[in-house]
Amino acid sequence: MHSSKDFSLLTLPCFQYRQDGSATTTSATSGAALPTGTSTAKLHLLAQAAGKLYFGSATDNPELSDPTYVNLLSDSAMFGQITPGNSMKWDSTERSQGSFTFAGGDTVVALAHANGQLVRGHNCVWHNQLPSWVSGGTFTAAQLTNIVQTHCSVCPSNVFRYAWDVVNEPFNEDGTWRTDVFYNVLGAGYVTIALNAARSADPTAKLYLNDYNIEGSGAKATAMQNLVRSLKAAGTPIDGVGLQAHFIVGSVPPTLQTNIQAFIALGVEVAITELDIRMTLPATAALYNQQKTDYNTVISACKVLSGCIGVTIWDFTDKYSWVPNTFSGQGAACPWDVNFVKKPAYDGIVAGLS
Ligand code: G3I
Repeated sequence: MHSSKDFSLLTLPCFQYRQDGSATTTSATSGAALPTGTSTAKLHLLAQAAGKLYFGSATDNPELSDPTYVNLLSDSAMFGQITPGNSMKWDSTERSQGSFTFAGGDTVVALAHANGQLVRGHNCVWHNQLPSWVSGGTFTAAQLTNIVQTHCSVCPSNVFRYAWDVVNEPFNEDGTWRTDVFYNVLGAGYVTIALNAARSADPTAKLYLNDYNIEGSGAKATAMQNLVRSLKAAGTPIDGVGLQAHFIVGSVPPTLQTNIQAFIALGVEVAITELDIRMTLPATAALYNQQKTDYNTVISACKVLSGCIGVTIWDFTDKYSWVPNTFSGQGAACPWDVNFVKKPAYDGIVAGLS
């Protein structure tokens, strides 16, 4: 680990690894010394002491060949929960109709179980990462109902998970329904079909709806709250709402805490499910310090509300973050840098949990 006075790493280009293992040489730092995190406290232990169920991280199967990464991920005092970032999605588990493969997901589950960590299943029904037989299919309502029921039964029943993101990202930014194959054929009822199937398959898993840009109040958050309200009124099983929390440095919504409370007031638990806070590169000390403040703000909002049960970061190291692959010129979103050095963001999380 290098101290804030160690310049040896700072002249090197930052290698951002893509999903296929290739690297790009985006310059992630400004060349000036960047501050580091200094706390030695462990995040999951702190979360438990604060009354939370877990502090966790997403992971992905290709990263599990990196021993330094796996050692850190396997520290159950640091991470009490893991979410597979890709390997339980539809295009991984049911690439051909009725033919299920759990190899990738099972690898993550086995690691979590060996470490005594909870697993969040991610996800059953989502418009993205669908095999073409689903996204491009022409179905009657009866046919697609059967397809959703089968998929949402087989996945959650495969092995125990603490929770499942049963429906992911159902809404557009303005709160209207996203017009994917599920909505187009089944209308909003696809959510009920999916939740009922998941409940039948796994009576004990917490069933979640999960989305982004519902962290602060606004049309999309209101749409999700209205959906939860109507599901509850109809007796449909719904246990939780996941706030993904893919934020930008300096832009954490000021209504975050009151909005989390608004979800909890509907009788569901809330989890922060995919937290990361990205910046426009190169990283600077000022950006790192603002990021520390922002992580603190998010964690503190969850900490003070007992109905906010845990926080998952969308991987813990910039080495494997999804951000640079999606947002050109942005990155450095995680609490550990590409060299597994803690950033000030880490101390922000510690302060938020303490
Ligand atoms: O599977 C192919 C592989 O065959 C191919 O060789 C490789 C080439 O790049 O691509 C592989 O697919 C990639 C996939 O991850 C699995 O590695 C896709 O290109 C890549 O786009 C995909 O990115 C994932 C993204 O979801 C897709 O939308 C990220 O890793 C994953 O972190 C991200 O996670 C989502 C959550 O599920 C939902 N919320 C937003 C979050 C961030 O986008």
